[in-house]
Amino acid sequence: MLNEKEPDDFLAHVFDTCLTLHAEHTMNASTFSARVTASTLTDPYAIVASAVGTLAGPLHGGANEEVIEMLDEIGSVENVRPFLDAKLASKSKIMGFGHRVYKVKDPRAAILQRLAEQLFDKLGGDLSYDIAVELEQAVSEKLGDRGIYPNVDFYSGLVYKRMESTDLFTPIFAIARVAGWLAHWKEQLETNRIYRPTQVYIGEHDRPYIPAENR
Ligand SMILES: CC(C)(COP(=O)(O)OP(=O)(O)OC[C@H]1O[C@@H](n2cnc3c(N)ncnc32)[C@H](O)[C@@H]1OP(=O)(O)O)[C@@H](O)C(=O)NCCC(=O)NCCS
Repeated sequence: MLNEKEPDDFLAHVFDTCLTLHAEHTMNASTFSARVTASTLTDPYAIVASAVGTLAGPLHGGANEEVIEMLDEIGSVENVRPFLDAKLASKSKIMGFGHRVYKVKDPRAAILQRLAEQLFDKLGGDLSYDIAVELEQAVSEKLGDRGIYPNVDFYSGLVYKRMESTDLFTPIFAIARVAGWLAHWKEQLETNRIYRPTQVYIGEHDRPYIPAENR
């Protein structure tokens, strides 16, 4: 359905592994969204919709598309280090690296990298992969001491691209994660209480109201 081709057993296995790896991953941003939405006792369609909105952001599930764009922009193995230096000089983030929890290489990235290699062995190599490996090496030299290593999105895009489903990275991620979001929905309902965090206001008190046209 993703590329209008019948997969062989190997491709089916690769895709299955990807879906399993992405299915659930504790309290990430989209799962948190799903739980907050679930806690209002709305329906599962609304829960999944709110989680998808969160997943699509480039700091979350949208990162793998940005990784592919970045590898295309780098264009050659020789350009990896000049590209990285320019990005770091402008304080830009390198997509597919860093994680709030993992301060080592994301274990899912290691599995996806192996899958990517198997895919390239079977279907033919991809320059983007050589660029990615060099980028991982260069980033670990420059940012490894700050715990910034490849996350799940770094190699997943390469796998999906080789499987010819380029524009569907976030939907594929969502297909997998629906299982986790709905498991959290059921768990939330077992002891539900609506999420209602407090906030700490640190601004000025007793400010006069100024009509919008006078501001
Ligand atoms: C995933 C991510 C959002 C985690 O964020 P976080 O733990 O809150 O970390 P922060 O965004 O606060 O960054 C902490 C520091 O590390 C740096 N950093 C984090 N990820 C970085 C990256 N990918 N490239 C360069 N620097 C990075 C930040 O610039 C910041 O530096 P500073 O302290 O000098 O300001 C973050 O690493 C990121 O934006 N990565 C790129 C997007 C991505 O791949 N997302 C998919 C996640 S699975």
